[in-house]
Amino acid sequence: MGRTVELVNVWKIYKTGSVETVALRGVDLVVDEGEFISIMGPSGSGKSTLLNIVGLLDRPSSGIVRLAGRDVSSMSSTEMAFYRNKFIGFVFQRFNLVNRLSVRENIELPLIARGMPKSERYKLVVEALKMVGGEESWLYKKPNQLSGGQQQRVAIARAIVTSPVLLLADEPTGNLDRSSARTVIETFVKLNRNGLTIMLVTHDPEVANCSEKIYLLRDGRIWNTVEPEKDRCILETVGG
Ligand SMILES: Nc1ncnc2c1ncn2[C@@H]1O[C@H](COP(=O)(O)OP(=O)(O)OP(=O)(O)O)[C@@H](O)[C@H]1O
Ligand SMILES: [Mg+2]
Repeated sequence: MGRTVELVNVWKIYKTGSVETVALRGVDLVVDEGEFISIMGPSGSGKSTLLNIVGLLDRPSSGIVRLAGRDVSSMSSTEMAFYRNKFIGFVFQRFNLVNRLSVRENIELPLIARGMPKSERYKLVVEALKMVGGEESWLYKKPNQLSGGQQQRVAIARAIVTSPVLLLADEPTGNLDRSSARTVIETFVKLNRNGLTIMLVTHDPEVANCSEKIYLLRDGRIWNTVEPEKDRCILETVGG
C-alpha cells in the first residue's frame, strides 16, 4: 500500500506587510492510498492552508510535501498545475462552479485543460455525473438552476471526472441542509470504496465520523487523532 500524501515538518508563514501569521507549525501527516481521513479544528487553525498545500494550490514555507511518492517542493508553478490536474480533485464549500457555463461545460473544464478532444469528453462527463447520483437532464442547465445539494454533486463530478488519485474537500457540506450533506457524504463513501483516497475538512462531527480517522488541528499543529464514532456518522443519524 503506497503513501498518497506525506508531509514532513511542514510550516506555512503568511507575510502581509510587516505582519507574519504562522498558519502551520511543523505538520507531519501520512495518508495511505485508499484512506478516507478528516481534519477538524477551530476557525483559523490552518485546515484550509493544509489542504491547499496538499492540493498544490499553495506552497509551504518549509518542510517536505510528497504526493504519490513524488517530492513536489521543487516544482515550478506550471508543473504544479499539471500535477494537480493529473492527480487531484478539489471540492469547496461554495461549489466554485462557473455560472455562465452549463453543467456539462463545468464538468468538462479539467478535461479541456488536459487537451482531451470533445468526442472523448462527453462519455466521461456522463459517467462522473452518474457516479455522484446526478441526472442527465442537468447537463444543459446552468448551475444556478440547481439546488445547493445538486450543485455540490456537479462540483464533485467535476473533481472526479479526471479519475484523480486524491480527493480534497474543504467544508463540502458547509452550505448544505442535512439531507444534501448526507447525499454528499454517501457519494464520498462510495468513491472511497472504489479506491479513491479522500482528505476532508469539516466542522461537522457527524460528517467527520463517516471517515476512517479524524485529525485534530489547533494553532497550526496536529495535536490529536481520534477514532470516528461510526454510529454518529450522518449516514446513520439522518434518514436517506
Ligand atoms: N492568504 C493569507 N494571507 C495571510 N494570512 C492568511 C492567509 N490565509 C490564511 N491566513 C491565516 O492563516 C491562519 C489559518 O487560516 P486557515 O484559512 O488555514 O484556517 P481554517 O482552519 O481553514 O479556518 P476556517 O475554519 O475559518 O476555514 C489564520 O490565522 C488566517 O488568518
Ligand atoms: Mg478554512
